[in-house]
Amino acid sequence: MRRFAIIGHRALSSGKIPLNDLAGGAGRMDVLIRALMASLMTSHGFRRDSEVILHLWGGPGPKRRLKIIGNEVKGIHAEERSVAGQISKVLREPTPPIGNWVKRSSGIYDSGGSIEETIREWSDSTIIALDANAERLWINNAEIPTKSKPLSYETTDELSSKIEGIDIGFILSDDQPLELNFSNNIVKRSIGEKWLQGHMAIAICHFLIDEGVELNL
Ligand SMILES: C[S@@+](CC[C@H](N)C(=O)[O-])C[C@H]1O[C@@H](n2cnc3c(N)ncnc32)[C@H](O)[C@@H]1O
Repeated sequence: MRRFAIIGHRALSSGKIPLNDLAGGAGRMDVLIRALMASLMTSHGFRRDSEVILHLWGGPGPKRRLKIIGNEVKGIHAEERSVAGQISKVLREPTPPIGNWVKRSSGIYDSGGSIEETIREWSDSTIIALDANAERLWINNAEIPTKSKPLSYETTDELSSKIEGIDIGFILSDDQPLELNFSNNIVKRSIGEKWLQGHMAIAICHFLIDEGVELNL
């Protein structure tokens, strides 16, 4: 399973999102939406082994989390405004209590809480805080295989589907620095010394996992 947690330091957490001002009045909601799309979408479908949790810290009211699950989600299209419309519907509802995930629509869940709760919920995952200044995410002299060998993937039969392979969670910030209380179960890793936009960093993580590059975990 591939998990992505995105921190939106100023992202609105309740009320009416200004759909014409996602970058300004909505508190860089545009950044979160691009991260959501990069986490869950391929060229013509959803990544069924991925989920994303958007962390909305900009108020008004308590911090809030929206979880979107790739193998359940419906009604989301690869277009920022349409995703913003889905988020906007959720933000009109009151924020649920911390840790209580309320289903708002197919594949979209809503809860109170902050990154500490997400880290606790990810206790079975290897957790990576993405940071350009850290050690690389791949091992020294790693090879890029010439045939894709995904490190996480979905398997299906007539009755069910399963996610196999590694369970890994990445934490990214918006345009502001990521400040976390680092504990033993979180490591910082870099995908290169240049700071990229969050959605590009997510695309590179998917590339490494899709191709089966040996990771430095
Ligand atoms: C636009 S960057 C944030 C830049 C911000 N000024 C800072 O100092 O953190 C958004 C997020 O993408 C991830 N990111 C961007 N470039 C990266 C890199 N080269 N290596 C690892 N993570 C990166 C980080 O998680 C970062 O918080």
